[in-house]
Order: sequence, then C-alpha cells, then structure tokens
Amino acid sequence: MFSRFVRPTVISARNFSTSKQQNYKVAVCGASGGIGQPLSLLLKINPLVSELSLYDLVHTPGVAADLSHIETPAKVKGFNGPENLKEALRNANVIIIPAGVPRKPGMTRDDLFNTNAGIVKALAECAAEVAPQALIGIITNPVNSAVPIAAEVLKKSGKFDPKRLFGISTLDIVRANTFIAEAKGLNPKDVNVPVIGGHSGVTIIPLLSRATPSVSFPKDQLEALTSRIQEAGTEVVKAKAGAGSATLSMAYAGARFANSLLRGLKGESNVIEAAYVQSDVTEAQYFSTPLVLGKNGIEKNLGLGKLNDFEQELLKKAMPELKKNIEAGVKFANA
Ligand code: NAD
Ligand code: LMR
Repeated sequence: MFSRFVRPTVISARNFSTSKQQNYKVAVCGASGGIGQPLSLLLKINPLVSELSLYDLVHTPGVAADLSHIETPAKVKGFNGPENLKEALRNANVIIIPAGVPRKPGMTRDDLFNTNAGIVKALAECAAEVAPQALIGIITNPVNSAVPIAAEVLKKSGKFDPKRLFGISTLDIVRANTFIAEAKGLNPKDVNVPVIGGHSGVTIIPLLSRATPSVSFPKDQLEALTSRIQEAGTEVVKAKAGAGSATLSMAYAGARFANSLLRGLKGESNVIEAAYVQSDVTEAQYFSTPLVLGKNGIEKNLGLGKLNDFEQELLKKAMPELKKNIEAGVKFANA
C-alpha cells in the first residue's frame, strides 16, 4: 500500500492552474513562532490557499504585513490576542496549530503538558464554535495528549468528527526518509518509510521493513537507525542548546501535511499521509497510521499492515506510554 504513496509537492509558487475551485481558508494558530512563521511562508506560496489567517498572542500584524508582499494570490490577515481569535478561525477550511512552548535540553515533550494543554483546549473550543467543519492539524506537543484534549473539547460541544482531527506526525516520516536515504546513498525524494504510533520517543515506530525502495540493515544498524528516528527531536533540541526545538523541518513537514489536506479537500484521489488520529487499529484510542485523505478529511485508515518481529516488539513497547499519554489528555479535558 505504501508503494502507492505519492510525495506531495509543497512549493510550486507561480506555476499553478486556476481551472478548479481552489479557494481555501487556512488558519495558523501560533503563527508568529519558530514554526509558525516559516510554515505561514510555505502556505502563502501554496496555490491552494486563497486566504491565510495568522493568529498569535503577539506580532501577527508584522508577520502578516511581511508575507502579504509576496506575489501569490493568498490574502494574508493577522490577528493578535484572544479577542480576535474567533475572527481568525471563522469558517476556516483548515486550521494548523503550532501554538505553545517548545522543549529545552533535558525536557521531555510531556514536560510541556502543563503549559500547552490549556492552549490547545482554548483553540479547540473556539474552532468548535466558529469553524466546526475545519480540518484541524495539531503540531503542539505533547501531540500524543494534545489530540485527545482537542477531541474531548470538540465532543463536549457536539462538533467532534474523528475524520477531521489530526496530530501532525509528518516530521517523523520526513526524518526517516532522510536518514534511510543517507544510509543507503539514495535520493531522499525517492524514499518512503512508514512511521506509525505516536509522536514521542518509544511511541514513534518506524517500519523500515516496509520502506520503499526495499532496504535491509544488519541488526545493530537497524537498531541505531530506529533509535535515531525516535530521538531525532531531541537531537535538534540538544543542537539548539536552549533556543528551542525543530522549527524549519517542522514547517516543511507541516506545509507538506496541510498541502495533503487541501489536495484531499479539492477532490484529488490517492492522497495518502499518515497522521495521529482516533483509531481502532490497536488498543490505543489514538494512533498514527497512513490515511487516505479526501473531501471530508479521512476517507480510509490504511491500518497497521504487516509488522516484522522487531516492529511488533516496538509496538509492544510503545503501547503503555501511548495509552498513558492519551489518558492524561482525556483527563485534563474533562477535569
Ligand atoms: P515558539 O515558542 O517559537 O512559538 C510558539 C508560538 O505560539 C509563539 O509565537 C507564541 O506566542 C504562540 N502562542 C503561545 N500561546 C499561544 C496561544 N494561547 N494562542 C496562540 N498562540 C500562542 O515554539 P515553536 O518552536 O514554534 O514550537 C511550537 C510547538 O510545536 C511546541 O509545542 C513544540 O514542541 C511543537 N513541535 C511539534 C513538532 C511535531 O512534530 N509535532 C515538531 C516541532 C515542534
Ligand atoms: C520534534 O520531534 O522535533 C518535536 O516534537 C519537538 C521536540 O520537542 O522534539
């Protein structure tokens, strides 16, 4: 199934057709941040975006003014502060959320829970009210808990549609593709490595046995690559030495994911991306697997597929942590 995966084109600035209806409002919450700004830049040059709504607590007028000078059709508007949140999100087709604090060295993603859980909750409450049809993609960590929080909030207002809520785990796949291409001397563009599970440490489950093109590694290299993919976020946090976590690669991954959502909305067929969604493919209530995306969000969950013994073991190790993260999110939202 993964061999049919088509890597979406993120950037095609001036080279686009206007023959079909391609008018989508995309809102970015946390648009002035380390991820928010480059992500908004990539969305501004996406031909499927006609309106780009930038929300943050600070600096959005400046970010919006700057981006608005780029010679692409998307109209950019900046919205600062909670009093402008409703207007920012109203009738958005897609909402991407990178709002919240990032890690510093020594922290786990879970250490961000106390600050970021409330941020995600407030944004989801507003989305439920003014953009109930939106496809919502959550970047904010800890993703494993943030998605259940948003789901519970949406459920409370009767607006939850599991086909429309996504935790963005694309960066794990982007990294896996890059690392495997490096190891095998391939062009990363030609490599597709499925990564399933959640988005933190042991919950990130790379399926190297299902990479395309097919690759194999001796056991020690397989273990080293698996653990590098699982710990790649920490690699960046350490290298940034207190200045935050991955921003540019995440902006790329977020733009790739948003572009896939938009291509699905537009009615393109065979749009496949993995994301962390409500799921029944394992005993975890939320789980990332490849999805077929369409006009209403998820059209089909492609499931786990076949795992080898090594990957079964990774799945077993991931489950307790993932279930604990999910439970924490559900509990917070209902407290
Ligand atoms: P950052 O601090 O540079 O930017 C965060 C932005 O969010 C800031 O501009 C801030 O003003 C804004 N913000 C804070 N509270 C807000 C609120 N209530 N409403 C709207 N905006 C608000 O951080 P960053 O590096 O952009 O990272 C953002 C989040 O993304 C972090 O939680 C980080 O852990 C996460 N992240 C996730 C992935 C992933 O793969 N899913 C990858 C990288 C980072
Ligand atoms: C990542 O994977 O880079 C993000 O989740 C940020 C982090 O804290 O590692």
